[in-house]
Amino acid sequence: MSAITQKTVVVVGGSRGIGAEFVRQFAQKGNRVIAACRQPSQANEVQGLENVTLTQLDVSSPQSVEQWAGEVQKLASHFDYVINNAGIYGRRVGLSDVTYDDMLATFVTNCVGPLLVVQQLHKRGLLGGTSPSVVANVTSKVGSVEDNRSGGGYAYRSSKAALNIVNKSLSIDLAPDNVVCTLLHPGYVRTDMTGGAGLIDKQTSVAGLIGVLEDGAAGTRELQGTWHDYKREVVPW
Ligand SMILES: NC(=O)c1ccc[n+]([C@@H]2O[C@H](COP(=O)([O-])OP(=O)(O)OC[C@H]3O[C@@H](n4cnc5c(N)ncnc54)[C@H](OP(=O)(O)O)[C@@H]3O)[C@@H](O)[C@H]2O)c1
Repeated sequence: MSAITQKTVVVVGGSRGIGAEFVRQFAQKGNRVIAACRQPSQANEVQGLENVTLTQLDVSSPQSVEQWAGEVQKLASHFDYVINNAGIYGRRVGLSDVTYDDMLATFVTNCVGPLLVVQQLHKRGLLGGTSPSVVANVTSKVGSVEDNRSGGGYAYRSSKAALNIVNKSLSIDLAPDNVVCTLLHPGYVRTDMTGGAGLIDKQTSVAGLIGVLEDGAAGTRELQGTWHDYKREVVPW
């Protein structure tokens, strides 16, 4: 394992939950962290942290993504790590009640947003090149086809499965530019998204996920196009 320190890290969706914990742990390790928050003024968990700069980004808006990329370009010329963490679950409804709007809203935030973030940063030359970059797309095991034994969850499951295939294409397209694209599953974590339910806390989850990235930095774990959970185990597709 090779500690990640003195790097420039972007955390998208850094206001609370798992994203805020990524911000806190990366900053504590001596990295410079740019947290992208939908409402920076409300991001109480990460305000005032040393080594952290807050920026404004709504991943569901292409205009916002473009404007944000222009802003972060003024803050740094290269990003070593991009944690694409913003996500929504959407309404908890089954087959009889899921709507067109439920499907689209979840897809836009969980799949289109992360793709546009990478597209904008790559277009501006902020990823890869002479120094490597790692893009970590935060997905969910709920988006695993093999793991789906309980059905339902149409919007969330499909949006994360779509993010997974987006990550796969990014991992192929950006490899020649020295960019590694990988998928992370946080586990079942006690956050607002789960209504406080879960098997682990966000500290444990994020420490494990950063461990996966540190194994990658040490060259002991393949990250390009792969999918790991916080226990450092490979997740089935
Ligand atoms: N918790 C779990 O058990 C679990 C399991 C598997 C995967 N995940 C994934 O882990 C990630 C974080 O989940 P969480 O549990 O920490 O959820 P959370 O507590 O609900 O936090 C979600 C984060 O995403 C941000 N976000 C949502 N929509 C956004 C948008 N349009 N633009 C910018 N930011 C946006 C939120 O910002 P605001 O404060 O502005 O709303 C917040 O920072 C998600 O991708 C989720 O799918 C979570």
